[in-house]
Amino acid sequence: MAEPIIRMNNIEKHFGAVIALAGVTLEVYPGECHCLLGDNGAGKSTFIKTMSGVHKPTKGDILFEGKPLHFDDPRDAISAGIATVYQDLAMIPLMSVARNFFMGNEPTRKRLGLSFYDHDHANEITMREMREMGINLRGPDQAVGTLSGGERQTVAIARAVHFGAKVLILDEPTSALGVRQTSNVLSTIDKVRKQGIAVVFITHNVRHALAVGDRFTVLNRGQTLGTADRQTVTPEGLQDMMAGGQQLATLEGSLGGTV
Ligand SMILES: Nc1ncnc2c1ncn2[C@@H]1O[C@H](COP(=O)(O)OP(=O)(O)OP(=O)(O)O)[C@@H](O)[C@H]1O
Ligand SMILES: [Mg+2]
Repeated sequence: MAEPIIRMNNIEKHFGAVIALAGVTLEVYPGECHCLLGDNGAGKSTFIKTMSGVHKPTKGDILFEGKPLHFDDPRDAISAGIATVYQDLAMIPLMSVARNFFMGNEPTRKRLGLSFYDHDHANEITMREMREMGINLRGPDQAVGTLSGGERQTVAIARAVHFGAKVLILDEPTSALGVRQTSNVLSTIDKVRKQGIAVVFITHNVRHALAVGDRFTVLNRGQTLGTADRQTVTPEGLQDMMAGGQQLATLEGSLGGTV
């Protein structure tokens, strides 16, 4: 395999007496979809916030393209090419898709020499990028609020990719979506990965992870339970690692189905 684009090395994060991360090591490679799983409170969000410059690690270091990386600000991460799509998406529903597409991204816009908002250029790029992700907008002026949740996720992902993401972090992008929208988002993730971008996909849902994941890391109480690749994982094995299989098996037995 090639060199990892990012290596999180023995990362610890303490919030006062709470140890959210107790030494997590994770490598992500270009072109892979690396799924980060774990139950509520496992440390997933804390971990990706450390990866994207929102939190400073209490201990441990980050290597990006083989070199140590220190963030003073989340904008440093964006400039380096580490983009995060959060569930709330940071979009303005009443504004057009094109406006939303070009909103924010100040450091990257400057790097690309775009000092002002060029309406026609923005419209053209937005239509093209969305078409490539399989979404045919009525027009670039269509308001983001009229898109489905899955389509909005895709706008946010396409936007991050267009503005130069090398590592794309997705925090629970499918958790609020129905079946069809979920499959659209999963196919967007697949397209992005095939462009050589490293995707970190956080999810509670083992089936969603297995649909697109190349490797799987399970967090539990601030520690990794290990990383496995898709040849060696099974849905049952992942589910067990996530939730403590014995408890779940007992519950399934008493409910007479699959939890
Ligand atoms: N800013 C903070 N201050 C204090 N404790 C925090 C802070 N952020 C997270 N924690 C604690 O760290 C632990 C890990 O939380 P985190 O949000 O990273 O979990 P998670 O895996 O993302 O959970 P979920 O699946 O519910 O989103 C929890 O015990 C949480 O209470
Ligand atoms: Mg979280």
